Amino acid sequence: MRQLAYPVDSAEVAAQVAADGCAIVTGVLTPDEVATVRSALDPLLAETGTGTNSFLGRRTRRVFAVLAKTRALDDLAIHPLVLPVLDAILTHHLLSAPVVISIGPGEAAQALHRDEASYPVPRGAAGELVVNVMWALDDFTEVNGATRIIPGSHRWPDLSGARPEETVAAVMPKGSICVFLGSAVHGGGANRSAAPRLGVVMEYGAAWLRPQENLTLAVPPPVARQLPEQLQREIGYGVYPPFLGYVDGRDPIELLADTDAAASGPAPEQGDTGDR
Ligand SMILES: [Fe+2]
Repeated sequence: MRQLAYPVDSAEVAAQVAADGCAIVTGVLTPDEVATVRSALDPLLAETGTGTNSFLGRRTRRVFAVLAKTRALDDLAIHPLVLPVLDAILTHHLLSAPVVISIGPGEAAQALHRDEASYPVPRGAAGELVVNVMWALDDFTEVNGATRIIPGSHRWPDLSGARPEETVAAVMPKGSICVFLGSAVHGGGANRSAAPRLGVVMEYGAAWLRPQENLTLAVPPPVARQLPEQLQREIGYGVYPPFLGYVDGRDPIELLADTDAAASGPAPEQGDTGDR
């Protein structure tokens, strides 16, 4: 996988991502910046349980709704290197799924998949739909669960022939990013080391993948609670299977039913971008 060194021109990163479906940029965060982010995430991880199925990872912790829980990731989400890359690939974009992911020791490799498969749009019919930026807060290695990607697979018509042997690990020192398309075939790597592997994935989507009116804001929870459940789901307080529309890792219909939901810890069963 091609590695570029920060500072680098965003156009060069975008060109590399377009060519291979993925690219690494090293040195985006300084060691001190990595340490600051990590210290903010440690208490969040401490109160987060592991996943409950093989795709989420039974030894993997995911923190959802991170922008409601810490200010430590704001600068990453709108990093000046990243935004022009998103502009070049998606034109208009929205942050779709920021997730802190800690892959624990002994975790198995995740099934290979495409993140754009969340949307039933034929490959390439509407350009790229999803771009991921994985921020390494630990060194990502061959043995500790570095994300594995098949370079060039963004051009495949389907992933029926994808084999694990074709994947390349996104090996990179902490402070690096790996940018990869939602059309690139990938999966979280197995963690065969003795320590967890911490990363933050910022998944962005094409900005048109949304309702016309932002009804979950227009009809905030106190008002939405007064609606019939079917109407609650109709305006966005529900999940399109398996997980589109989750909030803090949960079905938002549960949030309406649970007035204390905003203060409680996440139960990471519904939500997952899989980008580990
Ligand atoms: Fe994924």
